[in-house]
This record gives sequence, C-alpha cells and structure tokens, in this order.
Amino acid sequence: MSRGITQAPGDRTVTATRPSEIMKAWICRRYGGPEVLALEDRPRPSAKDGEVLIRIHATTVSSGDMRVRSLKLPRGFALIGRLAIGITGPRKPILGTELAGTIESVGSDVTAWKVGEPVIAFPGGSMGCHAEYRAVAVNGPIAPKPANLLFEEAATLCFGGSTAMHFLRRAGARAGEKVLVIGASGAVGTAMVQLAAHMGARVTGVTSTRNIELVQSLGAEAVIDYTETDFAAIGEMFDIIADTVGASSFARCRPLLNEDGRYLAIAGGLTDMVPWRAGTKRSLAGPAAERPEDVRELSRLAAAGVLKPVIDKVYSFSQMPDAHAHVDTGRKKGSVVVSMGYVPP
Ligand SMILES: NC(=O)c1ccc[n+]([C@@H]2O[C@H](COP(=O)([O-])OP(=O)(O)OC[C@H]3O[C@@H](n4cnc5c(N)ncnc54)[C@H](OP(=O)(O)O)[C@@H]3O)[C@@H](O)[C@H]2O)c1
Repeated sequence: MSRGITQAPGDRTVTATRPSEIMKAWICRRYGGPEVLALEDRPRPSAKDGEVLIRIHATTVSSGDMRVRSLKLPRGFALIGRLAIGITGPRKPILGTELAGTIESVGSDVTAWKVGEPVIAFPGGSMGCHAEYRAVAVNGPIAPKPANLLFEEAATLCFGGSTAMHFLRRAGARAGEKVLVIGASGAVGTAMVQLAAHMGARVTGVTSTRNIELVQSLGAEAVIDYTETDFAAIGEMFDIIADTVGASSFARCRPLLNEDGRYLAIAGGLTDMVPWRAGTKRSLAGPAAERPEDVRELSRLAAAGVLKPVIDKVYSFSQMPDAHAHVDTGRKKGSVVVSMGYVPP
C-alpha cells in the first residue's frame, strides 16, 4: 500500500479458506447505529448470462449507506423512506453502493470482460458491495479500474462523482460560470469542485478551516470558511449554487443567484423537492440518476488524472462498524474506504 493510504490491520485474505459457494457479508436487518451490523456467511452470487461476478477488493461506506442503515433521512422523508427502503429494516440488507475489484467469473455469453480484469462498479441504490463478491450486469454500471489508481482509490469514484456529474448536467453548467459548492469537502462536494473546475467553471467552495487547503487543491479559486464567514454575506453572485449538505435553501440563496441562476438542492428535504422558480432563477432536486455511461466517464476522467480520489481513512473489512461510526460524524473528508487487504500479484 502506498501514497499515504495506511492499511488497517487484520483480515488480509478473507476469501482464502471457505467453500466456494459461501462469502462473508455485512448484514443490516434493522435500523440503528453501527452496532446493528453483523458479519455473516451468505450464498456467494454467481455470474448469470449477461453478468460478471466481481471479487471485491475495496468498497466505501457512503453517506447513502449511513442513511439506509440509520434511516436518518432529510427533513420530511421519514415515512416515504420507510416505504421505499423497508418498514423495520433495509429490504436490501447488504449495504455498499460502489466497489473496485477483479472479475472472478463471467456469464456464459460474456465476451466484454475477462477473468482477472480489474474493474470499478456502481450498483448504487441496488447496493450489495459490503461483501466479498457482487454480480453486475455487463451492460450495467461497470468500467475498467483506472490503472493509475489503487483499488482503495478506485472504489471511491462513483458515489460522489456520479451525483456531482448528474447535477452539473441537469444545471447545464458551462465554462466561465460561477459555481458555489456548499459542503465542498464531502464525497459529493470534492467531486463537484473537481468536475466543475474541469469544465472551466469558476468555483468557490464553502468548507471549514481544516479543509480549506484540500478544497483549494481540488481546483476551487476561492474558499469560504463557514466557521468564520456566512457565504450569503460576502456580496458575491453565482450562476449555480450547489448545496451538497442541506445547509441552505432556495429562498436563502435566491438573492445570490444571477439571472438564469440554478440552485441545486442535492441533500434537500421534502420541501426542496418542489421545483421552485423565481423569475428566471430555479431550483433542481431529487435523486441522482445512476447511469452506466457516467461510471465509464468517471473511470476515464480518473485515468486522465482529472478526477482525483479524496480518501479520509481506510478501514479493514472486519472494521466495517467503525467505518460506519466515522461516517456518522458527518465530518468525513471525501470517502471512507473499506479494504479487503488485497495485494496485486
Ligand atoms: N440527491 C442525491 O441523489 C444524492 C446522492 C448522493 C448524496 N446525497 C446527499 O448529499 C449529502 C452529501 O453527501 P456526501 O456523501 O458528500 O456527505 P459527506 O461526505 O458525509 O459530507 C461530509 C462533509 O460535509 C461537510 N459539511 C458538513 N456540514 C457543513 C456545512 N454546514 N457547510 C459546509 N460543509 C459542511 C463536512 O465538512 P466539515 O467537517 O468541514 O464541516 C464534511 O467534510 C448527503 O446528505 C447525501 O444524503 C444526495
């Protein structure tokens, strides 16, 4: 392991000695804190026609995993969330939205991927990555692992990256536009800053003192420290305001938007789901689309060095509840990674 990523001690070869039809997975059967998670033996999936089976080397614990485990949802979503995710616990008990790994086996008709190839995949809301194996459709959210990244780095590209990409696309972000990113140090925020800057937008990030250098390093031309300055009081106007943490509202940001300005309520509550309009200014909200083409584009951008992974901490698979506890703080920088300790041959 290199580049300052410290491997957590412990379970290096979780797959080594069990029968081939069994795998280890972290299971969440009821809502609650990290203590509700249990490590269990589960049937190992197989690659059906049109699928590949991926042996997972690294995954993340995202804010999405935290929300599904705890049912701590944005304002107004408690009932809708229970109906959508599960009444007493998640209907999909293996959490985990994204992974990096190698192809373990392929379905009988699959020619696009070969056994041993390194890949990233983003099952997203279908989850299932907090396990040793995950089957994925070949025409689904799967792409080559960028060769310049470790598995632990590559695993972080999709959750924040696809959300940022979705909202920038919906906003029609253009070169030269001024973009304010509130929550610039999170998984969505760090990707949003990088992708907007890459498009030629002029990015201002809102973050706390300890993350100022990080946000600058990602391409923000200005940074506002929210512990000292209210972004609404600096007298600047923006074309796009992306709130990735639910710290504002369209009503509050409207006076800071230029004509045709767009407010992105990425972490909004139920009232933010209304497509508000005020003259030519408007708000956009809702779940980000999970598109296979976005996964391929994120892989390409990372391979080109445009999108850099931001990792807060790496945990081992056996430390999954600790990784969740870290995400629960709401203070993580970029992504929290869970590594299976795989060492490439
Ligand atoms: N619409 C969608 O489809 C979609 C998709 C993905 C995620 N989301 C939502 O988007 C939100 C962000 O996700 P994420 O994964 O990026 O979260 P995250 O990584 O857990 O966000 C943590 C970061 O937020 C920063 N932060 C917290 N409060 C802040 C504030 N008041 N101002 C500025 N920064 C603040 C923290 O920095 P400090 O420690 O410096 O405060 C920390 O670095 C979540 O609510 C998630 O549910 C929505």
